[in-house]
Amino acid sequence: MEIKLATLRDIDAWMILVEQVRDIFPGLETAEAMEEHRATVLRFMESSSAICAVEEDKITGILLFSKKASELCFLAVDPAYRRQHIAQKLVTFMLTQLDAGKDISLITYQEGDPNGQAARAFYKRLGFSEGRLTEEFGHPAQEFILKR
Ligand SMILES: CC(C)(COP(=O)(O)OP(=O)(O)OC[C@H]1O[C@@H](n2cnc3c(N)ncnc32)[C@H](O)[C@@H]1OP(=O)(O)O)[C@@H](O)C(=O)NCCC(=O)NCCS
Repeated sequence: MEIKLATLRDIDAWMILVEQVRDIFPGLETAEAMEEHRATVLRFMESSSAICAVEEDKITGILLFSKKASELCFLAVDPAYRRQHIAQKLVTFMLTQLDAGKDISLITYQEGDPNGQAARAFYKRLGFSEGRLTEEFGHPAQEFILKR
């Protein structure tokens, strides 16, 4: 398994994984939203801010981040490849791309949301702590912060 910065050539394989997990991501409900998301991913790829895990031409994990905002913007692992530390490797790679002294933030699900059980346990395991409660695409959400 390889962890690498994704390039424009990876977009179709990337979107196959997004399609697999879109049900649990608020904001990806419609075909138009998926088209918009595809364009967003292409922009992240162009600015070297899209990381993927690749196993024999298949993309098994994806992560988008913003260097400017020091933010993890999107993370998902193929359900068939979970608990193999792929997400952990994606985050470790991201850390090498971000400014060392800056805290890192992200928005995830609130406690009690069944869709967020894995994500919340994962971020806590990596040392993130809970921040303010908020909303994303009209869905209850919570900020998590990694102090550095
Ligand atoms: C959250 C997610 C990215 C984790 O990916 P993953 O590759 O399975 O995670 P890892 O294998 O790197 O997990 C590292 C550690 O986090 C913790 N963890 C991960 N998933 C967990 C779960 N379902 N329950 C409890 N702890 C979990 C464990 O401590 C794990 O280490 P261990 O397996 O040695 O015990 C994945 O479950 C996913 O894609 N979920 C759906 C999308 C999502 O929620 N994305 C984030 C939205 S903000």
